[in-house]
Amino acid sequence: MEKYMIGGVHALELTEKYGSPIYVYDTETIKRKFFLLKKAFSKIPHRIHYAVKANEAPEILMLMKDLGAGLDTVSPNEIRRALKLGFKVTDIIFTPSCPAINEIKFALENGIRIHFGESEYFEELGDLLKGVEVGLRINPDVHIEGNQKIATAHADSKFGIPLNQLPAVKQMEEKFGFKVVTLHIHTGSDVKTWQDLAKSFDSLLLQLPAFNNVNSLDIGSGLKVKYNATDHEIDLDAYTKYIKDKLENLGKSINIILEPGKFLVAEAGTLLASVNVIKQGYNKRFVGLNTGSNHLIRPMYYEAYHHIINISNMDGKMHIYDVVGQLCEEDTLASERALCEVRAGDILAIQNTGAYGYSMASFYNLRDKPRQILVENSAHRLISEDMVVI
Ligand code: LLP
Repeated sequence: MEKYMIGGVHALELTEKYGSPIYVYDTETIKRKFFLLKKAFSKIPHRIHYAVKANEAPEILMLMKDLGAGLDTVSPNEIRRALKLGFKVTDIIFTPSCPAINEIKFALENGIRIHFGESEYFEELGDLLKGVEVGLRINPDVHIEGNQKIATAHADSKFGIPLNQLPAVKQMEEKFGFKVVTLHIHTGSDVKTWQDLAKSFDSLLLQLPAFNNVNSLDIGSGLKVKYNATDHEIDLDAYTKYIKDKLENLGKSINIILEPGKFLVAEAGTLLASVNVIKQGYNKRFVGLNTGSNHLIRPMYYEAYHHIINISNMDGKMHIYDVVGQLCEEDTLASERALCEVRAGDILAIQNTGAYGYSMASFYNLRDKPRQILVENSAHRLISEDMVVI
């Protein structure tokens, strides 16, 4: 039978050794994606700040550090982890959403660059901002194709400062003596076309003349991942050519900041789970796994597609199943999915789960989180084991 390999390791050996469910990450895939992005942006002055929220495993953050990336953080604990791992304060950006004022003060005290997504904090912080360099995350009200649940730059999104508030921010910049050095936009996650990302980039450029001290534009992420066979990744060459041409016409030197999460780690991760039961419903045949939305919430939360393979029976006859979890919830991981015949005890590989898989996992129903395994140079090791405290 054909063997399902992850980073040169037979996946069934991993479940034999570590049990299931497990998240397995292949470092080679992360490196490949990182260098792909670097190459595409090679003609543009840029810095990659990996979005920690996608997968915050210290081993993955260390890999990003070794590759030369900085980090994009959204909470004090993400900042603490970054500092603990030896990232310099200048390698860290803090882009919180509706943070507590003390969280902002924590970042300020540590000298971490904050990208403000709300203008309401400036008055309250007042003199604490004197001489501080900040970024502004704007909301230009752009509409994009794709999953609206993860679109974040339209008028009804909570993210970013509406354009009509920017003149007031400008006044506060003078009043309190802070310096806006970065304009930031994150259009959404999994954006379908580079043209949509380009629209967002243009909206940053439009604001440039109003802010004299700006020396960098943070274009967030949104770089799409191929979850489904019919998905297209963003045309990086077209996107970077667009950015490069626009920057050349500016007559001012501007650095680009990127904050990829998914693009770097999604494909590197696989959730391996065992089949508890094959259950016949009225109309459907269910594959009941020893995982669920507690470990991978994306299908239920975003109607996200994750490709699934029965790695215990790779040559089996195809049948149609609904793949479900074991939570006391309708936690469907895949509907009407063609899989090689599935039997109790088989191991299924749920692909592209390196981003927002484990990081969004919970202890719901008092079930343990999956162990996490890192595969590196055809060797593997356990990197986390997070059990319910009874
Ligand atoms: N920068 C900012 C400011 C962000 O809010 C995000 C994601 C990123 C960068 C990274 O975006 P990425 O490259 O991963 O698309 N949990 C959802 C995605 C929500 C992401 C939230 N912010 C999912 O599983 O699809």
